Amino acid sequence: LSQENQSILSAYKWLTKLYNHLLRYTKDGKEGYQYFKDRGISDESIEAFQLGFSPRVKDFTAEFLEKKGFHQQLLIKAGLLSLQDDQVTDRFMGKIIFPIRNHLGKTIAFGGRNISNQDGPKYLNSSESDLFQKGKLFYNFDLAKRHIRREGEAVLFEGYMDVISAYQAGVKNVIATLGTSLTQYQAKLLKRYVDTVILCYDADNAGMEATYKASILLREAGCTVKVAKLQENQDPDSFIQAHGAEAFKNEVIQASDTFINFYMRYLKKEYNMSLEGDRIHYIEEVLKQIAMISSSVEREYYLKELSNEYDLSLNSLKDDIQKNRQKGI
Ligand code: CTP
Ligand code: MN
Ligand code: MN
Ligand code: MN
Ligand code: MN
Repeated sequence: LSQENQSILSAYKWLTKLYNHLLRYTKDGKEGYQYFKDRGISDESIEAFQLGFSPRVKDFTAEFLEKKGFHQQLLIKAGLLSLQDDQVTDRFMGKIIFPIRNHLGKTIAFGGRNISNQDGPKYLNSSESDLFQKGKLFYNFDLAKRHIRREGEAVLFEGYMDVISAYQAGVKNVIATLGTSLTQYQAKLLKRYVDTVILCYDADNAGMEATYKASILLREAGCTVKVAKLQENQDPDSFIQAHGAEAFKNEVIQASDTFINFYMRYLKKEYNMSLEGDRIHYIEEVLKQIAMISSSVEREYYLKELSNEYDLSLNSLKDDIQKNRQKGI
């Protein structure tokens, strides 16, 4: 690690401690603490995730770090201060802080969330650097890793609050991409630790699209994909807060769909199934995905389903599958 990156890590370490302390024990951080309380987050979770608050005091962060000997240039480079029209501002002022940790548990960036009607986006992350690249890590991977190995499954969410709520509810093999779509890099990284990935994205259109894209990448990386069941317009955190831990485990995670069932539902929305051309295209696309399944019993099972639903001979479907599997090899 370069000297500069070591200093950046050191600045993040100081700030993680400071923001967490301010949140828990001071007047300046009280609104942040109250926010987490209102959302059902326990003190234990605040500690485990080192959640914090950056106070609404101008130049607070800059002054704190400059007193510790950090240079302004470095803090800008670290993504902690923003430079706008020659003005230096605290990037996270007035936001609750989610430290983003690398696989060793060291903070390498912050996610900040607006908790009042400030303008600007709901979430703001540290800018990317050679220490922090969103597309190369998972939020909470350091804490989740051993649970992922033990369970043989990883549950993948969209955001911070989903991870924290689930972890607090006792589902600990949980990680998140930070709102961006899963990359091939992340898919391969995950495959090194686990075979089965349960996708549990928000139940809205964007979430469904993201689920489709992530599942294709994960399958290409060799993972088995399942898709959790959430009601329209819910996200994992809102479900847990409304229905509790047990319901989340039983009705969302355990009740996950197989990828193929999800894919059939997804495609039926994309195609106009009353048109013959679309129907044929649909069957072809589903067959391609069935061809990728390694278990012959499972392949046969889905082929029977298709053959019944569309009144096609099992043999012709099997022919098609043979061709697809040969292409794949
Ligand atoms: N995100 C982001 N920038 C935004 C919106 C979202 O980086 N402007 C990322 C965050 O990592 C966020 C994730 O995308 O956690 C999912 O976004 P969203 O579902 O909108 O937020 P939630 O995680 O549900 O957060 P909350 O419950 O606090 O609204
Ligand atoms: Mn969403
Ligand atoms: Mn969400
Ligand atoms: Mn949410
Ligand atoms: Mn096509």
